[in-house]
Amino acid sequence: MVAAMSVKKVDQFIFLWFLAIYAPAATFCANVTYDHRALIIDGNRRVLISGSIHYPRSTPEMWPDLIQRSKDGGVDVIETYVFWNLHEPIRGQYNFEGRGDLVKFVKEVAAAGLYVHLRIGPYVCAEWNYGGFPIWLHFIPGIKFRTDNEPFKAEMKRFTAKIVNMMKQESLYASQGGPIILSQIENEYGDVDWAYGPAAKPYIKWAASMATSLDTGVPWVMCMQADAPNPIIDTCNGFYCDQFTPNSNAKPKIWTEGYNGWFLYYGGAVPYRPVEDLAFAVARFYQLGGTFMNYYMYHGGTNFGRTTGGPFVATSYDYDAPLDEYGIIRQPKWGHLKDLHDSIKLCEEALIATDPAVTSLDPNIEVAVYKTDNVCAAFLANINTTIDVTVNFSGNSYRLPAWSVSILPDCKNVVFNTAKINSASTVSIFRAESLKQDVGSLENDSLGWSWISEPIGISKNDSFSKFGLLEQINTTADRSDYFWYSLSIDLEDGDDAGSQTVLHIESLGHALYAFINGKLAGGGTGNSTNATVNVDIPVTLVTGKNTIDLLSLTVGLQNFGAFFDTWGAGITGPVTLKGLKNGSTIDLSSQQWTYQVGLLGEDLGLSSGNAGQWNSQSTLPKNQSLTWYKTNFVAPSGNDPVAIDFTGMGKGEAWVNGQSIGRYWPTYVSPNSGCTNSCDYRGYYYQSKCLRNCGKPSQTLYHVPRSWLKSDNNTLVLFEESGGDPAKISFATKQIGSVCSYISESHPPPIDLWNSDTESGRKAGPVLSLDCPYPNQVISSIKFASFGTPYGTCGNFNHGSCSSNSALYIVQKACIGSSSCNINVSVNTFGDPCKGVTKSLAVEASCM
Ligand code: GAL
Repeated sequence: MVAAMSVKKVDQFIFLWFLAIYAPAATFCANVTYDHRALIIDGNRRVLISGSIHYPRSTPEMWPDLIQRSKDGGVDVIETYVFWNLHEPIRGQYNFEGRGDLVKFVKEVAAAGLYVHLRIGPYVCAEWNYGGFPIWLHFIPGIKFRTDNEPFKAEMKRFTAKIVNMMKQESLYASQGGPIILSQIENEYGDVDWAYGPAAKPYIKWAASMATSLDTGVPWVMCMQADAPNPIIDTCNGFYCDQFTPNSNAKPKIWTEGYNGWFLYYGGAVPYRPVEDLAFAVARFYQLGGTFMNYYMYHGGTNFGRTTGGPFVATSYDYDAPLDEYGIIRQPKWGHLKDLHDSIKLCEEALIATDPAVTSLDPNIEVAVYKTDNVCAAFLANINTTIDVTVNFSGNSYRLPAWSVSILPDCKNVVFNTAKINSASTVSIFRAESLKQDVGSLENDSLGWSWISEPIGISKNDSFSKFGLLEQINTTADRSDYFWYSLSIDLEDGDDAGSQTVLHIESLGHALYAFINGKLAGGGTGNSTNATVNVDIPVTLVTGKNTIDLLSLTVGLQNFGAFFDTWGAGITGPVTLKGLKNGSTIDLSSQQWTYQVGLLGEDLGLSSGNAGQWNSQSTLPKNQSLTWYKTNFVAPSGNDPVAIDFTGMGKGEAWVNGQSIGRYWPTYVSPNSGCTNSCDYRGYYYQSKCLRNCGKPSQTLYHVPRSWLKSDNNTLVLFEESGGDPAKISFATKQIGSVCSYISESHPPPIDLWNSDTESGRKAGPVLSLDCPYPNQVISSIKFASFGTPYGTCGNFNHGSCSSNSALYIVQKACIGSSSCNINVSVNTFGDPCKGVTKSLAVEASCM
């Protein structure tokens, strides 16, 4: 062909060929639209799996691994919110550095070959301080948030346009060759719009047309917004979204937040969601016509600094996600979902070709078939919560465990059942390490620590006095968690306090400490359901002058609910002294109080460890309220993720090499009851259904990203509020302990065999596979193996009444010395220790 071309044409041809080979992928623009079935990318309907990773909840150094592990888990799209208050802490002054480097994050996702769903909000909720709104927004005259209000709309538009333009400048929209295929405006406004009255509708209409006018070239969504105006797609959030239908037949069924767990509050137990139920929810969604779902969160991460909202949201945002807080793959959750994603992808051709034909065999058995002349895929669901059934479908019989979905990519063979986990599980352990100090010049009796006492009461020269009690957030503008209310009163002989004197304080929250004459007299804290603090503190007063210093603090600003921005905090009163000797009560509320925003140590910059006069010459003060502590330490060796164990401390904030690792609060203990170690996955999940860690501190371990550490000479600074013993602080590294698997004779074969595309592969029997978690590791020992009726969980397996005596030997022979091994789970391998009984193989192995 080339031979017949003119020289000019040959030149052109070579030029085009050169372009095709060498031009960056970014020049190939994708056209993203949608129809009733799916998002359409470059003319093709797509079945997509998405996972949330919020970029500021990890470090840029962690991003590539997090994204790659998501991709390896079968995720196609990374979803993130955009955090306005992170990017514009002061009006007009932007920050896109470090963990806030949104462009870098989006580019990392693109580099891994994944798409992005950019949820700009800019209200995001997200357990993030003030729902993502910058606090300065609150002080704009005449402003009302999230309603038809000109000042608010102007700011919302300005920020949304700023982000869109940034993305455009970097050519990050799919329409420009970038990874962003979808964007969100607002967030779950439909949950609260009733409270905003007639102004709600025009606001949502405005938000929709404002977003559309920004001309991103890709579709917009609004989540939980049944009246989302065209062309915005309304989407579903929830533990289940299979019953959802969008508000127009021209829009696809999209699930923007499928919760794979729940977040942790200080004072709460740790929520988890069994993967069998999560897989069931996801399979049901794709069974009933869904084509795009997003895990909230695929990696939850950490609320560093003062970024948590709530109030009372914990620093850990682990969320029981497939990638744990530290970025480690959580098994079997990650693996079971990967198998689910691969199974759904095997059905993609059928799923995008047609709507499902749904029939109910009985009220609990629902069959969906996606069938055209060329393809056929089927989903069989048993939504009964207790009874396993055998169903007949297309002439074959299938056993369906209760609360499960079987996926049949060829309408004949089961590739996956949501209740049968083929993936191995692992046990993660925290290995404790004592804090290794770089003691240097520090005296021995200070145990390697130095300290500074924060003054009690007013110590800064920007303090001010006012009659009456001030609301906290309006006064501090969230510059600090801390706000001092200070008063001195004169008591005459005769009206001073007897043993019955009580200081009564009413506060909107979130916590407070009361100091009388320079000594801590008591305090109180709100909780996640009621932030207010009402306390009666017995006090001892003297004749003459007494000082009352009240330290009020916030623990993350409210992030949800109608008008959440106006809820307020702090000691708004009344504050009274009851039971004075003469029997009287004094109301102190309208007295002239002196106020101080923040701490002296904050102004001095003590958190960096470089400023201030640190004391190390005498005995280390323990259980002292309001104390700054500092030490130098050697980082735990190796590459395993690092945490600090704050057991022994009270409450405060900690900094490593000047970076805040967040608020710590190991003394806030969860209730004694409500937990279960073996939560039944069958039946509808809700956020308090499966809890662990009852009666224990909500969080003792706090993530220190590796990239914030040097090998030695690291500085740890703490500000301790209530009192603790820093000598008790230790480190822990997170490691993977045992690898386990439990496979029964009724499990489907591994999905990889299906990929070989042979009928025999589809009919293969179950296989138990073990894989060492890290490269260069081999299986070093088999701690447990039983074929028969073993029971228990990884680390706690037991032999049942039926058990083959050759199992251990056979598994050892197949696995020891290899990095992975596969064993057929069948009587052909192990012999039959109990005829007529369905048998399982359980194995626990160690890798080294
Ligand atoms: C949703 C909200 C998310 C997050 C979630 C709970 O209602 O849209 O931002 O707050 O709840 O984790």
